[in-house]
Amino acid sequence: MSIAWSEMMSVGVPVLDSDHKTLVGLINHLHRSIGDPEEYAAVGSVLRSLEDYAAHHFAREERMMEASHCPQLVQHRRTHQDFVRRVGELKTRYENGQTSALARECLTFLNSWLINHICTTDMGYRAWVIGHTEAMQVGADQHLTGENKTSAVTDWRRLKILVVDDNINFCEILTTILRGVGVPSVAVVHDVAAAKAVLETGEADLVISDWHVGTDNGLDLVKWIRRGPPTLNTLPVLMLSGHERLVNRDVALLAGADEFMEKPISARGLLICLGRLAARKRQ
Ligand SMILES: [Fe+2]
Ligand SMILES: [Fe+2]
Repeated sequence: MSIAWSEMMSVGVPVLDSDHKTLVGLINHLHRSIGDPEEYAAVGSVLRSLEDYAAHHFAREERMMEASHCPQLVQHRRTHQDFVRRVGELKTRYENGQTSALARECLTFLNSWLINHICTTDMGYRAWVIGHTEAMQVGADQHLTGENKTSAVTDWRRLKILVVDDNINFCEILTTILRGVGVPSVAVVHDVAAAKAVLETGEADLVISDWHVGTDNGLDLVKWIRRGPPTLNTLPVLMLSGHERLVNRDVALLAGADEFMEKPISARGLLICLGRLAARKRQ
């Protein structure tokens, strides 16, 4: 059963509530990914992304607790470390076995651990962290991509991203990851004709396209973009493939894609790649 977010789960700190919503969203995607025709690509991507988000969110919480001198920090950190270890083990077992039964085992553990942790353990830092200026600042400075004040931080709130993939479940996983960092506009289409229609309106700064989009070929879309007018032909394109062969990367880049990633993806890997493309666009 999917988890529904409720105000009862709010810790009263917007940046941490937002992290919790992303974690809950990813667990719900895990639920929907079991039995998907491309189960390994979807479940594997969710597990890798959960591992990334958990590490990022826990570091943020711990730094905020440290800044506010919360006395529960040591015990809380131990709980986080135990979770990271168990998720790592479950992910490795799933990647070695790739069965729906293993995916269900992950889901059961994640569901109960996360709800219990948010609703009980995390509530313990509320009184210390809420309204603490320094804690809020260190929380805001924590980025999933590892970007910090000394490097240029990607301004996700200015990006409009077009996702082209016939797998609805995978599109939703990407949307959760992108919305989680603040991308306000994520357009999702399931065939190349619909992608072209969106691109002709100029409503995209970046394109993420699957290799096989139903019966269409994502390479045709990239070639069409590169043949387009100047407003279109410089558009950064990330190509994904769940049927990777080593040669695919070269073929994708030769067709005009800027980057290539294999499914399953991880949230951190995806965002680092998109950050690079967004920086190139700014130059
Ligand atoms: Fe938390
Ligand atoms: Fe926590």
